[in-house]
Amino acid sequence: MNTNGLSVLRRSFAATTGLQLRYLKQPPGPNFEDLQNYPNFDPERQHLLWEDISKKYGPVFQVKNNADSSMYFLSDASDIQKMFNITAKNPIRPFFDSFKLVREINESKFFDEEKLGILCQHGDEWWRVRSKVQVHTNKLQTIATYLPKMDDIAKDFVKRIDTLRNAENEMPENFMKELYKWALENVGLLSFNKRIGGFEGSEDSKHITEAADMIMKSIHECEMGGDKSWMYAPNAPFRALSENHDYLLRYIESEVSTCYEKLKNCNNVNMKSLNIIESLLLTPELTRKDVIITMLDFIFAAIDTTALTMAFTLYCLSNNPKYQMKLQQELDNVVGDSEQNLTPSHIRNLSITKAIVKESLRLYPIAYVQVRQTLEDSEIGGFIIPKGAQVMLRQQPMAKEETNFSRAEEFIPERWIRGNPMTKDWNHNMFAYFPFGFGTRSCVARRISEQEIYSLIARLFHKYNFEWKQKSLNPKSHLQLYPDLPLKFTVKERFP
Ligand code: HEM
Repeated sequence: MNTNGLSVLRRSFAATTGLQLRYLKQPPGPNFEDLQNYPNFDPERQHLLWEDISKKYGPVFQVKNNADSSMYFLSDASDIQKMFNITAKNPIRPFFDSFKLVREINESKFFDEEKLGILCQHGDEWWRVRSKVQVHTNKLQTIATYLPKMDDIAKDFVKRIDTLRNAENEMPENFMKELYKWALENVGLLSFNKRIGGFEGSEDSKHITEAADMIMKSIHECEMGGDKSWMYAPNAPFRALSENHDYLLRYIESEVSTCYEKLKNCNNVNMKSLNIIESLLLTPELTRKDVIITMLDFIFAAIDTTALTMAFTLYCLSNNPKYQMKLQQELDNVVGDSEQNLTPSHIRNLSITKAIVKESLRLYPIAYVQVRQTLEDSEIGGFIIPKGAQVMLRQQPMAKEETNFSRAEEFIPERWIRGNPMTKDWNHNMFAYFPFGFGTRSCVARRISEQEIYSLIARLFHKYNFEWKQKSLNPKSHLQLYPDLPLKFTVKERFP
């Protein structure tokens, strides 16, 4: 019997007999030291290694380190559903220890004990802040206050296309950097309450980009590199992480203070047009520090995720001219000649656009593994996973399984359009798709990031056609999934 057959049997046996946990075994899997012997071992493409191991051991496996730090992996939708459900009341997402430590030992003592922000905190302290922040990040009226400026950023990006193109209409090798600039400019609206001038290369934007870049690189070195001495005394990557983190903290602190002073001196606050910083500053249960830390967390969570989602969406569209045309027809019908600003009503009616982004995220989920920590010994897939274990939920392979999605390998956005006759009877397993996470711990800014992405797609494809003439991407995976080749799209005017 193959591993899949065995795993189905084991799962139903555990379910029907209600076996007590103590009779169950831990999932099988290799030792950490053996990983290098796998044929697909490539530190740059961890998702392929997990796939290899899963072929050998089945959809539930562990990578054994020692009893306390083994990692557990799931890639069966029903197991993942169970894992999300049993952790739903107190969802703990282990976060990078190096990042947490930077805050815990912050020299200026900015971080009060336990108040480390929604990205790395959990339990009551996490919920104290998260429950207040999401009121505003989910509120359509508040999100709409950013739309005109996000639209301006999208229009500025479109203007840049002309200056970036070479004689063959190709984007430059570093086009990904341009997408990072776009993402930073957008999150700057939230966190700094202003445009930072990234496209023009303002001094502020250069420093902020450099700091954000260094932070991501240093986290990667601290967490994935071999040298863990930073746990005991700061080493070079940890110092870089700490210095750049503190630079951004001070920058945001000053912007939030400016915002606070303005609010304090304003006699007549228009509650309907408050942005997120203002709304949070006026939330009695939050301190000014809470607001600053949240805005800092936004910077870390927003740039790569949004820029990479945009990159893969452009790639999918470039390879699917049929859907590019459908998208452009929709844009012509809904947005028209592009002279006027985008409005919430335009965004509401962009159904093909939305389906395209969803489908790109299915095939290229930026957060290719997501993590939860077990709260107690738990039965998953007929195995026991011990209390306190880190469980990696592998969404990427599930998207490619026919049992979860019909014609799984193909880019077919219609599968996301409700009532579409073509896809009505297709397999569509919602627990095999969670690009923004799950439940109360899911992405707090999902709607905001979607608005950014729809705005840029609307502006880009109204004017241009995109083509991909390079070889196919074979994405890499570190902290996130990202393209392995320079994004040299060929971009031509739609109406030359
Ligand atoms: C397409 C873009 C984005 C994707 C795919 C994405 C994805 C995710 C995922 C997978 C999580 C973890 C969810 C979980 O553990 O269940 C997350 C959390 C988070 N995201 Fe996003 N994100 C995006 C954009 C953004 C943006 C633009 C911001 C800020 C402006 C942001 C802020 C956050 C924060 C603060 C958290 C932590 C939430 C918590 O732990 O309560 N994200 N995001």
